[in-house]
Formats: sequence, structure tokens, C-alpha cells
Amino acid sequence: MDARTLKIKAAAEALTYVRDGMRLGIGTGSTAEEFVRLLAVRVASGLNVIGVPTSERTAALCLELGVKLTTLEETPALDLTIDGADEVDPQLALIKGGGGALLREKIVAAASTEMIVIADESKLVETLGAFPLPIEVNRFGLAATKLAIEQAAIRLGLAGPITMRMTGTEAFVTDGGHLILDASFGRIPDTRALSDALHAIPGVVEHGLFLGLARVAILAGADGIRTLTT
Ligand code: A5P
Repeated sequence: MDARTLKIKAAAEALTYVRDGMRLGIGTGSTAEEFVRLLAVRVASGLNVIGVPTSERTAALCLELGVKLTTLEETPALDLTIDGADEVDPQLALIKGGGGALLREKIVAAASTEMIVIADESKLVETLGAFPLPIEVNRFGLAATKLAIEQAAIRLGLAGPITMRMTGTEAFVTDGGHLILDASFGRIPDTRALSDALHAIPGVVEHGLFLGLARVAILAGADGIRTLTT
């Protein structure tokens, strides 16, 4: 089975959690896009939901397909967020931000009663960190922020290249106007300690460790769907 088929299967399973009248957080990335496509079909046949998109890219797709959108200003409390992930561990800690939308994704997930992660089973790992951790940073003081991240990592026994995400020859800029540093620390045994250390650095806007947010992970593999819960 190809990767797209697995993403569609995970997205279809997530759709079974969606009820009429729900206020949804709508994720970013190729798996979340499959969810939007399936959701739009249900909306066209009468499902009444409203969604907060986690990126401009997702907003554009929702508008194109007729999924009604709102904002966290109008609708500050959501029922359910459905989003992809770059890595998922068995406790449902996540690395997200491969698509650069981690800040809005985390704000939206935190505003939701529930978060469901959808992915193909290749995203399931024993310990997070093979996927470089995206860290969203303010442009001001970039070199100082990067140095502070390196020092914080060393204090936690972590090390590895930290590279600025690029789009061609230009720095990648997030929807919030910030930059992304991708930190290749390798295995992160204590995700909470790293999360706290990164949050303590003033130039760090947010990072891609999502801890305690997802309650359900729907993982699609060749043998079927596995649903992990906390
Ligand atoms: C977007 O910023 C990310 O957090 C995505 O959720 C993540 O990269 C998963 O994307 P795919 O579904 O395309 O693998």
C-alpha cells in the first residue's frame, strides 16, 4: 500500500470521531490535507462543522473545498483537533513542525478538548528525535538564540547540528513571520526537560515537541489501523 493510501485511511478513521456541530482544529501537512478532503465531502452532504485552520495553506484548502472556517478570536474553545505528526512515541508525545506550522498547530491543539493525531505507522518511534526538532525563533538575535539552544542542549546531554530552515536560497518564514531552526539532536530521552529548557530561552517562540496534547493516535499500516490512546 502506498503512503498516500495509508494517510487517507488514517484520515477516514479520524472522520468517525467528528460529530455534527463540532468546532474543529484543522491541522497542516499531507495527512491533514487528506482529512480536509474527506471532511469536505461530508460537509457537502450536510455535516455542519466549523474549523480553525492551523496554517494559511490549510485555510486555503478549506476555503477551496467549502469547509467553513472560524478563528480562535470568534471561537476560542474547540472540541477536537485533527492533525498529522512527524514522529509519535508510544505515550503520544509528538514531534511536529516539519511543515513549519508548529506554532499555530500547538495553539489550536491547546485550545481543543481533544487532539487526534493521524499518520502512517512509519511515524511511530520508541523515542522521539530521529526527526530534527523544529524550533521557531524570532529573527532578532538569531545567533544568540541559536547559541542559547546549543548550550541548553549540552546541559541535557544533547548535541547535534542546528540548521536554519531554507526555501531555496531564502530563509523559510512561518505564517507568524518567524524563522525555524531544525535541531538534529538525535534521541531525546527527556522531552519534558528539553521542552522546558527551550521555553526558557527568550528568542524561542515555540518548539515542535507536543507533550500531553494528543489523546488518540490513529496509525495506518499495511495490516490495518492501530489506535493508540493515553
Ligand atoms: C506541519 O507543521 C507538521 O506539524 C505536520 O503535521 C507534519 O509535518 C506531518 O506532515 P505529513 O502529514 O505531511 O507527514
